[in-house]
Amino acid sequence: MADVNRRIVLAARPEGAPRETDFRLEQGPIPRPGPGQFLIRNLYLSLDPYQRGRMNPSWRYGRGLEIGDTMIGGTVGEVIESNHPAYRKGEIVEGLLGWQEYALHDGLGERANYGLGLTRIDPARGPLSTALGVNGMPGETAYFSIIEAARPKPGDTVVVTGAAGAVGSLAGQIAKLFGARVVGLAGSDAKVDYLVNELGFDVGINYKTAPDLMQAIRAACPDRIDVYYDNVGGPIADMMFRWLNRHSRIVIVGRIAQYNDAKMRTMPDVFSQIMLARASVIGFVVYDYDHRTEEARNRMARWVKEGKIRYAETIAKGIERAPEAFLSMLTGGNTGKQLVQLYPPP
Ligand SMILES: NC(=O)c1ccc[n+]([C@@H]2O[C@H](COP(=O)([O-])OP(=O)(O)OC[C@H]3O[C@@H](n4cnc5c(N)ncnc54)[C@H](OP(=O)(O)O)[C@@H]3O)[C@@H](O)[C@H]2O)c1
Repeated sequence: MADVNRRIVLAARPEGAPRETDFRLEQGPIPRPGPGQFLIRNLYLSLDPYQRGRMNPSWRYGRGLEIGDTMIGGTVGEVIESNHPAYRKGEIVEGLLGWQEYALHDGLGERANYGLGLTRIDPARGPLSTALGVNGMPGETAYFSIIEAARPKPGDTVVVTGAAGAVGSLAGQIAKLFGARVVGLAGSDAKVDYLVNELGFDVGINYKTAPDLMQAIRAACPDRIDVYYDNVGGPIADMMFRWLNRHSRIVIVGRIAQYNDAKMRTMPDVFSQIMLARASVIGFVVYDYDHRTEEARNRMARWVKEGKIRYAETIAKGIERAPEAFLSMLTGGNTGKQLVQLYPPP
């Protein structure tokens, strides 16, 4: 075992898009567990768009980080030393232990609302990395937002943005399991090919190269949109509002196009469009479903084992690569879940 704990801290608040100089690698001694504590070696770190928001002084749902704080992030790790009666050496736990290699825990705390509690991971569910992706928070987000908010019916046209990412790729596949026709938007031809030829989406659109995106959306959805699954906000969401079907549903899951620009406004007449379509808008935050975590994780793991859901991971190696991988994820460098492997799984 290396004798230092390396971590990434917030060095500066980004103005607009974050840069590598907004982060700093620090190192210190590996903490030693006191009475009732245990030491965790983090194996995988999850990089997520919400972490961009936490770099601001305040964030819509959750406090902002202070300069010098360890970056917030979900982790899967192994208990390597324990003075706690309920946590044994070798157990695998998932929690919000941040962008660092080692962390102490006392086994207390809730999971809800970015709480610091831990969840034990059953390795039989799948590779440990999946506890941060398809069998973790992104999988839960996709599962509950589709079954509880979007509620697609057979034949519905569901449009998913951020479609090749961790949440969108799963949400689109779950909608297909419910018989929907699914159109995905993503930022490269390779991603569009992945959506259509590997995940079974009906149509894929490269939103960066389509000569007339509104026209491409109309062509892909001749019967208009029954469910708009919004991962991105911004001007793309505006276009979807212009092509809604009567009694459509809009599920607002994320607004990544707006995370670097707090002042970005969507079109002023969006409510007219909602009225004309008699549409429903549903705001979704996965933490409302914390009491049903096990249901989602078991269902996603089963679908993966049955071959009904496929997932991808983009994995950087080493804590020092986390800032670069984070910036890459924010600008579309990932397909599926962006992770950093800190140590090889046992
Ligand atoms: N409400 C909730 O409970 C909840 C939970 C988890 C995640 N989320 C949200 O869900 C969304 C997806 O999260 P994720 O973890 O699955 O991330 P992700 O999709 O795996 O990664 C982010 C992706 O966003 C795309 N992107 C970046 N800037 C964009 C822009 N201006 N316009 C369109 N697409 C852009 C990039 O793909 P391209 O190559 O396609 O551009 C990038 O790969 C985010 O908005 C996130 O905040 C919400």
